[in-house]
Amino acid sequence: MSLAYEQHGRAALHLAHAASLAPSPHNSQPWFFAEEGHDHGFEIHADRERRLALTDPGGREAVIACGAALFNARIAVRNLGFRPAVDLLPESGNPAYLARVAFAAHAPVTYDEALMAGSMAHRHTHRGPFTAEPVPEELLDDLREHARAEGAVFQVVDDSDQLDQLADLVRTAEDVHRADRGHAAEIAGFVGPAGVPAEGCLYHPDCVLLAGRDYLGLVRQFAVPPQRWVSRTGTVVVLATPYDTRADWLRAGQALQRVLLYAAAHGVRAAFHTQPLEVPAVRGEFRTRIAFGRFPQLVLRLGHTNQTWATPRRGPAETLLRSDLPVR
Ligand SMILES: Cc1cc2nc3c(=O)[nH]c(=O)nc-3n(C[C@H](O)[C@H](O)[C@H](O)COP(=O)(O)O)c2cc1C
Repeated sequence: MSLAYEQHGRAALHLAHAASLAPSPHNSQPWFFAEEGHDHGFEIHADRERRLALTDPGGREAVIACGAALFNARIAVRNLGFRPAVDLLPESGNPAYLARVAFAAHAPVTYDEALMAGSMAHRHTHRGPFTAEPVPEELLDDLREHARAEGAVFQVVDDSDQLDQLADLVRTAEDVHRADRGHAAEIAGFVGPAGVPAEGCLYHPDCVLLAGRDYLGLVRQFAVPPQRWVSRTGTVVVLATPYDTRADWLRAGQALQRVLLYAAAHGVRAAFHTQPLEVPAVRGEFRTRIAFGRFPQLVLRLGHTNQTWATPRRGPAETLLRSDLPVR
């Protein structure tokens, strides 16, 4: 494959832009895209070189991020007035080739799809407390349905004992990460203009019920947070799948993005707390104690906030290839 930005069809550029707006661990953007010429097909590939060696050695979170990128590409196709024809894992011998999206029959975009398309550029990850305004039950019901439609289970954790157990598992995993110098260096390497913006990490990571990632090494300076807002933690949610294959990770990623976009369209933002799912023993405990034996793929807090920090993305010049041209 060769890099030939100037030769791309407009639809491929549009889809690459939409796909790139997906969330990814530490904004690692572990993907590249390929256009099959004349807007025939749009391919999503995992970029192994952008995988996080210590946070995500098995590549599960990278595939989830690519699943979120796939959902954005699907919504972009719908917003152009077509149905997307999607093949998951189209080449059995090439596990990094995750999905192919093509344009199928014309079908007008629905109200919900237009809403989600409209919130793609305005959805941003939150870190820190939310306002006191609760997430409406009806919205949580809608989000449960959206996740189900993508093959994932959206589990609200609101029982206080279960919440405490979940918070303990997040704390255990976060302590493992903080004690590991290599891990601390890996996340610190992603803070900055091309990765996670430092302004978005200024709250002490322990200021709500669930421990956050210590992107700025704040805990070394302030072992105890100057202020805690446990009641501003928001609604804690687990996204889980019945199995744990690459296809399940892709489904979890699509469900994640569908939930995030629909929530953002209704003024609700998400914070991520995926640390307990990155330490195998802790994930095992999480699976049995919290997720009813299902495979937990994401841990989120949902809530309202007026603060947003946009993160940059690589543009199509860096991410989009033509798969039908000879390598230069
Ligand atoms: C699988 C996955 C795991 C993530 N885990 C965390 C996390 O534990 N803590 C966190 O602050 N953000 C986490 N994020 C969010 C990313 O840091 C965020 O998506 C990225 O910095 C891009 O910013 P944006 O979502 O505002 O566009 C995660 C995202 C994904 C897709």
